[in-house]
Amino acid sequence: MLRWTDALARSTLCRRRLYSVHAAQPQKSASAPAHQTRPVDPASVVGPDLDRLRQSLLTLLGSAHPGLDEIAKYYFLHPSKQMRPLLVLLFARATNGLGRDWRERRWAAECEGEAQLDLPLTRGDVLNDWNPSMPDTTTSFQSVFSLVPPALHPQRPPLPTELALPTIPSLQPLLLPTQRRLAQIVEMIHVASLLHDDVIDRSALRRGVPSAPAAFGNKLSVLGGDFLLGRASTALSRLGDLEVVELIASVIANLVEGEILQMKDVVATPTVNAEAWSVYLKKTYLKTASLMAKGCRASVILGGCAQGEVWKEVAYAFGRNFGLAFQLVDDVLDYESGEATLGKPGGADLQLGLATGPALYAWEEHPELGPLIQRKFENEGDVELARDLVRRSSGVERTRDLARAHSEKARELLQLLPDSDAKSALEVMTERVITRTS
Ligand code: FPP
Ligand code: MG
Repeated sequence: MLRWTDALARSTLCRRRLYSVHAAQPQKSASAPAHQTRPVDPASVVGPDLDRLRQSLLTLLGSAHPGLDEIAKYYFLHPSKQMRPLLVLLFARATNGLGRDWRERRWAAECEGEAQLDLPLTRGDVLNDWNPSMPDTTTSFQSVFSLVPPALHPQRPPLPTELALPTIPSLQPLLLPTQRRLAQIVEMIHVASLLHDDVIDRSALRRGVPSAPAAFGNKLSVLGGDFLLGRASTALSRLGDLEVVELIASVIANLVEGEILQMKDVVATPTVNAEAWSVYLKKTYLKTASLMAKGCRASVILGGCAQGEVWKEVAYAFGRNFGLAFQLVDDVLDYESGEATLGKPGGADLQLGLATGPALYAWEEHPELGPLIQRKFENEGDVELARDLVRRSSGVERTRDLARAHSEKARELLQLLPDSDAKSALEVMTERVITRTS
C-alpha cells in the first residue's frame, strides 16, 4: 500500500514542480547573473554577524540575581548550531530590498540605529526591568519615586522623497538592526524551550555537558526558561511591528501545544492509522518547524514585505518544509547516532515512550509494534523489541526519504527568489539538513 507520506516523498523526488504559493515571479535585477549554481557556505555569508549576535545576546540576559544570571546564559555559553538565527539572517539578506516598504524600514533604521532597540518604550524611570548589563534601562529601587511630567518620544523625521534607494527590487546585503534582534529573539525562545524540555525529558546531558536541570536543578531551569521568555517578549515588543509580535508570540504557544501533543496516546489499531501520522506531523510542525517558519516570515516582514506580497509566503513555506525535514532527520539520528557515536543501541525516543517516523513506518511492516506503541514501550523488554523491529524494517530509510521530500520542497521555493549569495547559502542548508550527522 502506498501511503500519502511516501507519495509526497516520491512526487518531490521524481518531479521538480514549483510550489503553489508563487503569486508573482521576482524581477531579476539587471546586474544579477541569470542563474547562480555556485554553492555558498552559510557561515561565510552571515558568520561574523552570528558571532556578534551571540556576544550581545548575553547583555540582554543580565540579571542582578547571580543564580538567574548564570542559568539564563548557561546554554548560550556552549557552542551551538544557531540554526534558527542563521535562517533569519539569511532570509533577511535574500529578500531585503524586494518589499514595497523596504525604503521606510531602511529609513527608520538609519534614523534610529541599533541603540533604539534597547531603549525602554515606557519612561526610563518606570521600574519595569533591572538589568545590570544595560545600566540605561536599569532603575534603582532605592530612590523615592516622585511625579515627573510625562515627556513625548522624539518623532522620526519624515521619509525624504529623494532618498537614494533603488526603485527596482535589487538585493541589499544590508541587515536591519530589527532583523538582527529578531535572530536573537528566536534563539532566546528556542533556548527557553530547551530549558523546559530538559526538565520534562529528565536529560542529564545537552551537547556533551551537564544539562541545566542536572547543573542547577529543575526549579531554576523552569524559572530560567521563563526569564528568557520575559526578556524575549520585551525585545519583541521593541521591534515595533505588531504583525511580528503576533507571529512570534504564537510560536511560544505552538511550542507548548507541540509538547502536549507529543504526550497524546496513540490509539491501537491492527495497522498504523492516519490519525497517528497526522498527530506526529502536526506535533513536528508545532515543536520544531513553527519557530523556523515564523522566524523566516517575521524577518521578511521586518524587511518591508507589505500585505499581498509573496516574499513572506515564500519565507514561511520554506521554513515550514525545512523545519519538518530538520526534525524528521533528528528522529532518524535518534536511531542511528547511538550506534555510530556512542557504540550503543540508539532509540532514546523509545525510552521516552515516543513513536517517531521510523517506528510509525515500521508499524506498517510489523503490526506487532502497535500494542507496544500504544503502551508507550512501558513493559519490560518493549524498548529492545521495538528497536529491533525498527531495525528490521525500512522505517529509518523511509523517514529519511520523507525528510528529503520536504527539503527538496524548501529548495524549490527558493527558486522564487532572485539569485544571491544568501539564496545559495540557503540552498546549501537544504542539503546539509539531510546529510547532517549531529
Ligand atoms: C527539544 O525536543 C524541544 C523542543 C523543540 C521544544 C520543547 C517545548 C517545550 C518544552 C514547551 C515549553 C516551551 C517554551 C517556549 C517555554 P527533543 O526533546 O526532541 O530534542 P532534544 O534531544 O534536543 O532534547
Ligand atoms: Mg529533549
